[in-house]
Parts: sequence; C-alpha cells; structure tokens
Amino acid sequence: MPTSGDAAPENPDTASDYLLITIPLDSPLSGAEKDFLGMIDGGSGKNGFFFETDEQALRFYVRSLDTKAFARGIRDLIRKRGGPDGECARLHQVFQELFERIESVRSYGIRGGKRIYATYNRERKVSGRQHKVKARGSFFYALDHGFERTENALPEEFRNRIIAGDSGEVLRALPSNCIDLVITSPPYNFGLGYDTGEDGVDWERYFEKLFSVFDECIRVLKYGGRVIVNIQPLFSDYIPSHHLVSHYFMQKKLIWKGEILWEKHNYNCKYTAWGSWKSPSNPYLKYTWEFLEVFAKGDLKKEGSRENADITADEFKKWVVAKWSIAPEKQMSRYDHPAMFPEELVMRALKLFSYEGDIILDPFNGVGTTCVAAKKLNRGYLGIDISEKYCETAERRLKEIL
Ligand SMILES: C[S@@+](CC[C@H](N)C(=O)[O-])C[C@H]1O[C@@H](n2cnc3c(N)ncnc32)[C@H](O)[C@@H]1O
Repeated sequence: MPTSGDAAPENPDTASDYLLITIPLDSPLSGAEKDFLGMIDGGSGKNGFFFETDEQALRFYVRSLDTKAFARGIRDLIRKRGGPDGECARLHQVFQELFERIESVRSYGIRGGKRIYATYNRERKVSGRQHKVKARGSFFYALDHGFERTENALPEEFRNRIIAGDSGEVLRALPSNCIDLVITSPPYNFGLGYDTGEDGVDWERYFEKLFSVFDECIRVLKYGGRVIVNIQPLFSDYIPSHHLVSHYFMQKKLIWKGEILWEKHNYNCKYTAWGSWKSPSNPYLKYTWEFLEVFAKGDLKKEGSRENADITADEFKKWVVAKWSIAPEKQMSRYDHPAMFPEELVMRALKLFSYEGDIILDPFNGVGTTCVAAKKLNRGYLGIDISEKYCETAERRLKEIL
C-alpha cells in the first residue's frame, strides 16, 4: 500500500481517473492500521479504488464501487479485529466519515451494480453547461404564466375538514392562492365500483370533468405550490392519461417538476391477457407500476423555513431517486373503497415536497388517506369527495389518530 512519500501506485492508471476523498488524520497510521488498509485494497486499484496515506491524511481514490458491499466488508473486518472499540477504533471513526462522504457524492452513474464516479463525470462532461441550459430555455412552456404571488389564508371553515361534494363546486368557494400542495389520485375511469357509481364514462367527458376540477386546483394553489397527481393510464384503451394530464398542466403554465414511478410489484394483477400470444401482431404490454406526475406553480422553489422541513437525510437520499417500491394498499376491503393509495406513498410525497404546517388538498379524497398522512405529519388538510360514505370513513380514520 502506498504510504507517505511513496510514488503513486503502478496499476491505477493515473490518479486523475479517480474521484479523491481526503480524510484528515491527527497522527500517522500505525503499522497495524496500515496492514488493515492493505487487506482492503492491496494498493492496485483493481477493485475500482485505492488508498494513500501520509502523516496528515488518508486519501481514498475511487472510480467504481459497490458502496454497500464495501461498507459491509469493512465492518466485517473491524468486527473480526475486536469491533469498533478494539484495535481498529480509530479506523472505525475514519471509515464512518468516509462512508458518509461517499454517500454525499451526488454525481455518479451506475453500471453492473457499482457506482461509477470519476470517469463517468468525464464521459458526461458538457462544457459551458449553464450557458447551454440558458440558451435552450428551461420550462419554456411556462415562462409567461402570469400567476399572482399574493397568498391568501385558507378560511377556518375549510381548515382540517372533510367535505362531501363535487370538488369542482366546493373549490369555487375557496380564495385563490391558499393551498400549499395538492396531492390526489383521481377516478381512473376504469369502471370501478365507487360508492356513487360514476366511473367509466366516455373519455372526452372524463377529461373535461377532470380538467375542470384541476382548473380550480391551480387557482387555489399558492405561488410555488405543487400539484402531485397519481395516475394509472388505462392501457387496454390505449389512453395515456399520465401524458394527457401532464400536457394539460403544461398548457396551463405549470412547470413539470418530474415523474415518480410507483412500482407496486403486483405481478398478480389481473392483466392475464397477452394480446397476440407468441406473435408480434399485437402483443399486450403489462405494467406493475403507476405514475405520480409532479408540477409546480410559478416557481420550482417553494418558500418555507428550514426548521419545518421534516425529511431526514436518509429519506431524502432514497426518495429523490424517483422509483418508489411500495406495495399496494392492503386495507381496501376494511375501508370499503376500491382504489385507495397507500399511506406510505403520500407520506413520502408530503415530506419531500411540503413543509410542516403547510395546507394539503385532496380533491378526490376517497376514504381520506391524504388527510390521514397530513395530520400525522403536522400538516393542515382539506379533503373533498363526492361520496358521503367515503367522507364518513375518512372522518373515522382521522379520529383514530391520537
Ligand atoms: C381513486 S379514488 C381516491 C382514493 C383515495 N386516494 C384514497 O386513498 O382513499 C377517487 C375518488 O374520487 C371521488 N370522486 C369522483 N368524482 C368526484 C368529484 N367530482 N368530486 C369529488 N370526488 C369525486 C370518488 O368517489 C373516489 O373516492
């Protein structure tokens, strides 16, 4: 292993191919500590990384790494040598810091289960990136939005309430710019047996109604507020609802902030049809996921105080990777609703896109999953559903929260 004063190792091509992480040391490593490092990397860089040390620092050069296996391997070695309080006590601290520093590196690619650092950056480097972004024009479709910045308070009679009614009508009674975040899963028009029975009308009527409700949602949303729509296209009708909904919001000058793929892993879903079996004539594609389309009104940045952000570092790191594996809701028969989304899905969206104290609206509230999550996370809520029965269930669920 190269130590103080050693030349750069022979096998690693050049150190500049690697991302360098430097961990300061208060004294040089002992012989036993150096042996320990030697056991990990052998100094060749063959594993995609190598170490260098001198009197003041441990330098970790990395270009590809399976971060989990790396951390596991080192923790095992430390355990074998008497654990974190044994002869490796200092290295235990040093590696803890190294793991954190590795995790905080944001720019990497993934190949064969390993993170690719330095060479990935070089391959992808775009010179004058900022300038080019400016020249292309981000969200050009939403620049001339003309949204008002003034905020209004949500009137008390709508605060933390479940309201039975047609949301298009109920929302008309709200002032503009009084809601921080809308999250909802509209009726999908699949012909599901909702309490009020109105699911499965012709598509034009469906979108006309849906967009009239969304018009109101946009109006009541604050400047910088977000709309998150969980939507499942009806693949068998070849209606890409998620694209149509995105197109609608972009036409209304909202910024498309992104798309989350909700992987449900429901391989037992009822799509048993194959289309044209074993023939390219017309195979039928099957999906185990749904979409969450995320939009912002006026600005991608949402005002709020840092103390009111309740997402942890770990949650943030995991959830910005926009594929969420969450099992479908299991309690649908208990609450007697055919199309609930799981609380976990809403919890993640609320923590990632809103602050504590924000007001959350669900205009297709069903049995109140959004409001339950909002209440648990110290957000205000307003839930509207056309079915009195679902609203009663939502009230009951909210009362059960201590
Ligand atoms: C997919 S479900 C939402 C379920 C909800 N996410 C939950 O977890 O309970 C859609 C809901 O929209 C409601 N709905 C349909 N048309 C509506 C309208 N015009 N106004 C308000 N609610 C409506 C239905 O009664 C149904 O409960």
